[in-house]
Amino acid sequence: MTDPRPATPGADGDEVRRVVRETNYVTWRRQGGWNPLVVARAKDSTFWDDRGRAYLDFSSQLMATNLGHGNAAVVDAIAAQAHRLAYAAPSFATEARAQLSSALLGVLPKGLNRFFFSTSGTEANEAALKIARVVTGRTKVLSRPRSYHGATAASISVTGDPRRRPVEGLQTVPGTVFAPDCYCYRCPFGLTYPSCNVACAEYVDQQLEREGNVAAMIVEPVVGTNGVIVPVPEYLPRIREITRKHGVLLIADEVMSGWGRVGEWFAVDHWKVEPDILTTAKGITGALIPLGLTATTSAIHDEFRDRYFPHGHTYEAHPLTLAPAVAAIGEYRRLDLLEKSRRDGEYLLQRLREIQGRHPSVGEVRGLGLFAAVELVRDRSSRLAFNTEEDKLAGRPLVAEQVAAAMMKEGVFCVAWVSHLVIAPPLIVTREELDHGLEVLDRALAVADAEVRTGAVA
Ligand SMILES: Cc1ncc(COP(=O)(O)O)c(C=O)c1O
Repeated sequence: MTDPRPATPGADGDEVRRVVRETNYVTWRRQGGWNPLVVARAKDSTFWDDRGRAYLDFSSQLMATNLGHGNAAVVDAIAAQAHRLAYAAPSFATEARAQLSSALLGVLPKGLNRFFFSTSGTEANEAALKIARVVTGRTKVLSRPRSYHGATAASISVTGDPRRRPVEGLQTVPGTVFAPDCYCYRCPFGLTYPSCNVACAEYVDQQLEREGNVAAMIVEPVVGTNGVIVPVPEYLPRIREITRKHGVLLIADEVMSGWGRVGEWFAVDHWKVEPDILTTAKGITGALIPLGLTATTSAIHDEFRDRYFPHGHTYEAHPLTLAPAVAAIGEYRRLDLLEKSRRDGEYLLQRLREIQGRHPSVGEVRGLGLFAAVELVRDRSSRLAFNTEEDKLAGRPLVAEQVAAAMMKEGVFCVAWVSHLVIAPPLIVTREELDHGLEVLDRALAVADAEVRTGAVA
């Protein structure tokens, strides 16, 4: 598909790439060898580079543009708010703030009715962790190894994935205790569901019994970047019971799993779990403007009625970020995207299972709604992964990244992380686009299959 619109006059792609490469940091990688694609524009599930070449966005950029690119209602809301009132200090009330707060009451899990607005998922979690620690007066936080919760001190400290390691002890805060993942394909106890009796949840009961001084447990209800890991049905309800029993707050990090991605407003809705704090960002505006949300119960808010609330940002409750979220919620409803995500998600998983059958390098496919992972293995029987988290940090070539690169050559963008691919197209993706992306994935997996046979990549 070629870009229907004319090129921007004067925009020289090579010059754009040169200036950006020579003046910017790029996130989460070695800086050398960065050669970014120039993204010129985007619409719906497609983006175009500076040469007019189209790419199907099979991961919604960073699992964020749930409404697709350029949603007119959201864009118009940004423009209208910019003209009317672009900024007001957070101590003021604004109409956008009232409208979004009312709208949130209609979509969030029951009991979450006090809001703190920031501008990223990281900030949403940083606020949640601070609130949990201040309210309980306790310091420890339970998290899980396969998790990402953000880039700043407290949020990276409760992050289990390799991004924590380079700053461990340099810019982390003490107090993280890791609980077992609910990851059946690689069960930390070597058990099999359901005869395991969900040992990963029961172990948390023992941990909380012994640890003491635990303020909260933070979970991605469906783990995102670290594998699109869907818990067994008993897991989260049991974690809710256990945390409640020990008087420990439950923080649901729905930065990636929220906003229809898994076929409900929020992943916890699948299991009717009511966390004490829910954090989100990304899909709240379809990523068209940066917004983070920390939602708490009124019981938590009450704790600050006569106590100093020790948190805030200049851009807290920034009107320009709030008005588009109201429009976004309207669009999720108008386009019936929760139901579409459920329906297309079943189709996606069924097609992925067929693909798995053709490729020895595919160890497992899993997912919920329009959120799926293809986990690659060198050896299906032993489940040996092609690459490790150390390989990722060391910048070694990763088989999953080579598969993603082969897809990119065919015009499909798909995020790869250590040993899996994350499939998360915009929720508005058409069946034809879904089929096209899957056909390209099917072909690209030959790259990984070849490594199964030769074992050439260490
Ligand atoms: C589950 C989860 N929490 C927190 C974050 C951090 O969000 P942000 O990158 O907006 O700071 C992310 C980002 O991918 C995420 O996936």
